[in-house]
Amino acid sequence: MMDQTHHSSSAQKLDPDRQPICSRLSGFYNLEVPERLRRLAEMMGLSQRDQWQLLQQGLTLQDADMLIENVVGLFAMPVGIATNFRINNRDYLVPMVVEETSVIAAASSAAKLVRDYGNLTAAASGQIMIGQIQIASLPDIDAAQSELLAAKPQLLDVANMQDPVLVKLGGGAIDLETRRVQTESGPMLVAHLLVDARDAMGANAVNTMAETLGPMLADITGGELICQIISNLADRRLVRARMEVAVEALAKAGYSGPDVASRLVKAFHWADADPYRAATHNKGAMNAIDAILLATGNDWRAVEAGAHAYAARSGRYRSITTYRIEDGRLIGEIELPMAVGLVGGVTRLHPVVKVLLKILQVHSASELAEVIAAAGLLQNFSAMRSLVTEGIQRGHMSLHARNLAVLAGARGDLIDRVAKQMIIEGQVRYHRAQEILAKLNGHGESGES
Ligand code: MEV
Repeated sequence: MMDQTHHSSSAQKLDPDRQPICSRLSGFYNLEVPERLRRLAEMMGLSQRDQWQLLQQGLTLQDADMLIENVVGLFAMPVGIATNFRINNRDYLVPMVVEETSVIAAASSAAKLVRDYGNLTAAASGQIMIGQIQIASLPDIDAAQSELLAAKPQLLDVANMQDPVLVKLGGGAIDLETRRVQTESGPMLVAHLLVDARDAMGANAVNTMAETLGPMLADITGGELICQIISNLADRRLVRARMEVAVEALAKAGYSGPDVASRLVKAFHWADADPYRAATHNKGAMNAIDAILLATGNDWRAVEAGAHAYAARSGRYRSITTYRIEDGRLIGEIELPMAVGLVGGVTRLHPVVKVLLKILQVHSASELAEVIAAAGLLQNFSAMRSLVTEGIQRGHMSLHARNLAVLAGARGDLIDRVAKQMIIEGQVRYHRAQEILAKLNGHGESGES
């Protein structure tokens, strides 16, 4: 576990002008999309244009053609808002881009539980990224390491010349470390350039600096330069979130609160001990993490790679969350690398991302990392609470039933009535939704499908 003293929650650095919001939007899920958007727009001050961007998926073919190669179209995904989040005593409406039923409902209901009966905090450790430079074919690695350390001040100066804007913002290359790595091709020297990326993810800055220093390192050491690239195991850019909730509040599906808590801790112990389970357990956390990364235009593959590598840092792939019971409270924690940016790249280019960032209202990359980690933790907690009680299919099915009811044309309170009837009957199907709806509307039943 990382040293807590290096972690400073962004809560203290918040802009005092930022309007506090209340993320507890009761009945939000029952509204129709235009009404939901209207409420959100009113709360977050979204302009007509912002709303249009959301509804029309604002990205144009021209925008897309600038982002990637061989563009032939656009691909739409649902954008939803997870409600009830209060992190470090500040409320957030959390935009998520995700195709999986239940993810947003599970995150929102866990956030409500923790908000009502506990507490959720998060702290990021800073924004230091690592650029790696691989030098092979060195007869004396110790001597090469000493030569590099002697040249460090000049090397850092050269690195910083590559990105004066980052340096002006208080970031830039801050250190150069060397490691000896034993490989099948023999021992190699791997240099780590540490770069403070500030509010950027940092891949461009780090890769440019590493590619500039690579040939210089080869010259200095007389070795063979092979690769220069950022490391996604961003373990100098960790984020930790912590939730606590009264055990009594966890009761579900006939299980008492203390029962749920003790079963949940046992489920965590299984995930921590068994990589087959840990992969699925961690995927549950990534459901929220990836959804927010997508919504905020961040590189979710980079964060995925970092999370799983960090989960395996002990030599065995383990859970990225931990749970324990203390003084009648369930304590959950998550810790993982979180290389995210608020500036540059897609964040700047994607018009919908801009609107979603307006909704999320985070003011630094560290604050974004904190929200993402907190949401990942609650998503994981919510899945586990279901798994150790009723299982996950029931929740999936009731949401699926609601979706079918809406598809069949149900509106307002008819949505719940149609969905409930299908669940009671154990027939969650589109045709059945149509039939039940017709009956409730007084058009009689048109027969079984
Ligand atoms: C499904 O997307 C996520 C879960 O499988 C997570 C877990 O098993 O903990 C429910």
